[in-house]
Amino acid sequence: MKRILSGMRPTGRLHLGHYHGVLKNWVRLQNEYECFYFAADWHALTTEYKTPQNIIADTREMVIDWLAAGLDPERCVLFVQSAVKTHAELFVLFSMITPTPWLERVPSYKEQQENLSDKELNTFGFLGYPVLQSADIAIYNAHAVPVGEDQLPHLELTREIVRRFNHFYATELVEPQAILTEMPRLPGIDGRKMSKSYGNAIMLSDSPEEMRKKVMTYVTDPARKRRQDPGDPDVCVLYNLHKIYSTDEVKAEVQVECRRAGIGCVDCKKMAAESVLRFHEPMYEKRRQVEQETDVADVLAEGNRKATEEAEKTMTGVRAAVGL
Ligand code: TRP
Ligand code: SF4
Repeated sequence: MKRILSGMRPTGRLHLGHYHGVLKNWVRLQNEYECFYFAADWHALTTEYKTPQNIIADTREMVIDWLAAGLDPERCVLFVQSAVKTHAELFVLFSMITPTPWLERVPSYKEQQENLSDKELNTFGFLGYPVLQSADIAIYNAHAVPVGEDQLPHLELTREIVRRFNHFYATELVEPQAILTEMPRLPGIDGRKMSKSYGNAIMLSDSPEEMRKKVMTYVTDPARKRRQDPGDPDVCVLYNLHKIYSTDEVKAEVQVECRRAGIGCVDCKKMAAESVLRFHEPMYEKRRQVEQETDVADVLAEGNRKATEEAEKTMTGVRAAVGL
């Protein structure tokens, strides 16, 4: 069976954007592949090194969301990066053979340094972020990595690093393929990209009442100032929720009735809220059940053990090949 690996930086509780962009695919893939999924807490440290206090709690909350969304520890390995020390060992070896211009060329490097200008990201660790990511992937000889488009340059770099390493040491580390996951556009309530830091996100852990309230505050087509003004779902932010969650019948109804002001935005939002809740209320209930009944530390301890074992196998070969 082919092997998949993917990681997420622990950002705490996840929102609907995480679910549709990443998690949903992780859940689907666990039926077709041998899957390793991990919390990239060392990667979190590249930007959060001044305030590492939250990372452990954030990891826990994130993993609870993973389980609520349907990741099954019986079918995939769920672990924490920093618990598998050999990632750091392979990172050191990879760093020896990685030309620094390759890293300076990665688009996210300069972009992120500028976007997060308050964080002093002119560090060696931040520059080396993709080298650590390459080690994460290569140490499991993963065939494929499900990622969003933003991560493609990192994956291309991983392939180049692995190729160069194999060339020098006659190793046979696997060059991973990207599984590009198409991300449906799911903006936050104010129309910007859904993000916890913008305060515009619906969280998987929001109660049904909170979810409903948030749906009711979504931005709509600005042309519908009054109830009798016709609108256009195709330019309406809220309509994105219908696209993802509503049945074809509801979508067709909104398409017609919005354009002739047959329904008001309040009615339309209520319908959207129903659609969202039909999908997310069971996940919310599952989350509460996980919180009460699952020993998350135990799940991760078991995952860490399996991951460590697999990583150690690769490193045994790598150490012999390098000869130290
Ligand atoms: N860089 C990824 C992100 O920001 C997280 C990550 C770390 C990762 N190591 C990885 C993803 C290995 C896939 C494979 O989301
Ligand atoms: Fe958007 Fe619905 Fe209002 Fe039309 S009726 S503008 S689709 S919220």
